[in-house]
Amino acid sequence: FSLKPYNTFGVDAKARYFTEINNVEELKEALNFSVAQHLPLLFLGGGSNILLTKDFEGLVIKLNLKGIHEDIINENEVLVTAKSGENWHEFVLFCLEKNYGGLENLSLIPGNVGTSPMQNIGAYGTEIKDVFVNCTVLNLENLQLETFNLEQCQFGYRDSIFKQEGKGKYVILEVIFKLTRKNHKIKTEYGAIQTELENLEIQNPTIQDVSKAVINIRQSKLPDPKQIGNAGSFFKNPTIALSQFEDLKQKFENIQGYPNGDCVKVPAGWLIEQCGWKGKQIGNVASHKLQSLVIVNATGNATGKEIFDFSTEIINSVKEKFGIELEREVNII
Ligand code: EPU
Repeated sequence: FSLKPYNTFGVDAKARYFTEINNVEELKEALNFSVAQHLPLLFLGGGSNILLTKDFEGLVIKLNLKGIHEDIINENEVLVTAKSGENWHEFVLFCLEKNYGGLENLSLIPGNVGTSPMQNIGAYGTEIKDVFVNCTVLNLENLQLETFNLEQCQFGYRDSIFKQEGKGKYVILEVIFKLTRKNHKIKTEYGAIQTELENLEIQNPTIQDVSKAVINIRQSKLPDPKQIGNAGSFFKNPTIALSQFEDLKQKFENIQGYPNGDCVKVPAGWLIEQCGWKGKQIGNVASHKLQSLVIVNATGNATGKEIFDFSTEIINSVKEKFGIELEREVNII
């Protein structure tokens, strides 16, 4: 069974078994099948943050649970619950339509609601932890439902318990967000948003305006997976010690960095570009010409192995030039 339509890299890896589930009962049936057949499991949401480097000799379960509902708390707040199979951006648009604020900076992020807590998706000054209340998961060991609140999720930069000690132990079924109904907190500190709002000649932006600005920025530099296979940022932005940053600054005076506790976060895209990778293609794989942090399946025929090897070359050259070890953000299967 080809997984090509189910991963945004468009890699043609095969799965031994594949099933789509629409509710918890179907999920449990699929899990029982995997236990009976001793099959390894792979869960897929939108397939926007994985790289399949080889065929999967097990059962792939695509999560299609759908549904959104709202519980108004008071004049200014609402709880919105979305099932894991809802497309993220459509969910954001649904909230904007209702004038619920909090997710506008996260417009146009690929993927589904259920994977958003995994890596605490973030963009343009917002992360889902800012509006997250809890998520309901199925515990794969005992098939019981459990709830993880904000604290239990241990969110960090592109990180959560579901990527650490909870890895492979739970399936996220639904997520609850607390959003505003009025008195929205408009976040436009991110320079690119300000510039875009100026271009649009908007002075007092609404949440819908912020969303529009974010959509414009993303469309102007991030490739659309429907046109060219990719999984967004391939690497995390590395965090380095202040002393290391100061040493680098002596040698590379243009290096950028954002304070992060005692450390400095450096844009990986800049490091990669400085190593000459921006827009560079090797075989079927390239670094995107407008944002070098994004690796693309340039011809549509790349294998996962080729993409992985390309990313290793980037890691090696950044390490050699700057002494910084980039970490992959995309899940490697
Ligand atoms: N830069 C370069 N060259 C490049 C790319 C970037 O010099 O090829 C520089 C830019 O000029 C800018 C800085 O790096 O000064 C940061 O660039 P950008 O604003 O594009 O953001 P980013 O740090 O590269 C992160 C997220 C994105 C998110 C944006 C906006 C990570 C790994 N990536 O990218 O998330 O949309 O910020 O908040 O944190 C994703 O996770 O898939 C993703 C796209």
